[in-house]
Amino acid sequence: MSDNQHLEHMEHDRGTWGSNFGFLMAAVGSAVGLGNIWGFPYKMGSKGGFAFLIIYLLLVIFVGVVVMLGELTIGRKTGKGAVGAYAALSKKYKWVGYLGILSAFTLLAFYNVLGGLVMRYMFGFLLQIMGVDGFSGAGMGFFGYILYDYSGMIFFHVLFIVCNVVIVMGGIQGGIEKFCTVAMPALFFMLLFVIIYVAFQPGAGEGYKFMLTPNFEPLSSFGGFIDVLKTAAGQMFFSLSLGMGAIISYGSYLDKKEDLQKNSLIIPACDTLIAVMAACAILPACAAFNMEYAQGPGLLFNTMQNVFLSMGSFGNFVGFMFYFLVFIAAVTSSISLFEAIVTWRLDVGIEKKQKVSRTKIMSIAAVCAFIVGIPVALDALGAADAVVKAPYLLLGMTPEQLAAGQVPMAIDCWLDFFDVISEGIFMPLGALIMAVLIGWKWKTRNLIVPECEISGHKFWGYTFFDICFKFITPIGMILVLGGQIYDFFIKALIA
Ligand code: PHE
Repeated sequence: MSDNQHLEHMEHDRGTWGSNFGFLMAAVGSAVGLGNIWGFPYKMGSKGGFAFLIIYLLLVIFVGVVVMLGELTIGRKTGKGAVGAYAALSKKYKWVGYLGILSAFTLLAFYNVLGGLVMRYMFGFLLQIMGVDGFSGAGMGFFGYILYDYSGMIFFHVLFIVCNVVIVMGGIQGGIEKFCTVAMPALFFMLLFVIIYVAFQPGAGEGYKFMLTPNFEPLSSFGGFIDVLKTAAGQMFFSLSLGMGAIISYGSYLDKKEDLQKNSLIIPACDTLIAVMAACAILPACAAFNMEYAQGPGLLFNTMQNVFLSMGSFGNFVGFMFYFLVFIAAVTSSISLFEAIVTWRLDVGIEKKQKVSRTKIMSIAAVCAFIVGIPVALDALGAADAVVKAPYLLLGMTPEQLAAGQVPMAIDCWLDFFDVISEGIFMPLGALIMAVLIGWKWKTRNLIVPECEISGHKFWGYTFFDICFKFITPIGMILVLGGQIYDFFIKALIA
């Protein structure tokens, strides 16, 4: 970036990354989060283990890497967040950027609540270390207990959001980059430690078998294949922070001399490594403690509680470290969700030549995110007796219908509702539109190649990326969205 441009950015309080390593740590920080540690193991556990892993890896290569490159390029070329970037490339498609902002809020609605839960466990173990019962007498059943502790749910929801506000207010270099550069490597080593510990538990071997023994049974019917595909695809977008503009925003702060193509490989590779590592910690632990792989969103919390509490007082220490690590992963992700919103409003202010304040924008975004998260925090994951009623109850369906499998997953609780509309619909839709626009309208040759080659690095992946933008990503996404519609409107009705 030239000095002039740099000055202009500073003047408008926009900012840039200090180094490519710093950017990478922030982007990897955005990608690695609850999606990897909470989401990946439970989805792999409930959707066929090995078969899920293979489909997931194929999706990362043929869709994830490609959409990552598309978003980084669009962000850096225009120097704007999602809304400004689409508007700059073609006024007609500004709404695609707004779709990203909508996704950011739907993701934040449940992300902050989960982040709060992680903090609650972290404090629980901290109290245990100090000799106080940190789990209110509920021990291994703590997950069931905390869901009904409404004031606790709200308190930690707010606390997690406050952590985000503090970091994002610090700006790009001083806040986000500084935090991630220390936090991400620390996370890697702490996870390694937990994996090694779990590996020595008797019975853990079964978990590796479940993950690694080739088994394509779940893919043997078309319906089964689509079911695994749509879950893996949603998980992939969620985990790589793609399809909603967070990566466009991060790309917009990136220096012209950096190699986009290389970055678009490194980020998915690191993210996938951490997801597989998390599965290598949690699924074997599940096997060692005789627990269900397919227990859904509670898997992380329930399984690890068994692991740590069975370790005696040393377990309190390991439990604290573990949740501290998950907290770091979560917060480096949620700040990028907030940043997608903050960048949008900063760009609007800059365009209108108004004085813009990062702090004020972030505070307003935080309050909005808190409000949309309230039903997720208070519906006890859809329990009929919770203070806030789950969507299916509000729609007049009954718990009996839920038990009979007649309630679509999208409405069985508020967490799933926000999860399905964001990672199941908005993000694949965002990726579909972007891939079609790049592949067919703006053209890989005219948009991607020149922007990537500005840095002086040769763009060697033309054929691969072009075929993916034009065909593979769009076809994949149409199957995913079709599967989603089938699930919502048809499957539940047949059941
Ligand atoms: N990738 C993050 C995770 O795995 C979540 C996220 C999604 C962050 C979208 C930013 C944008 O936890």
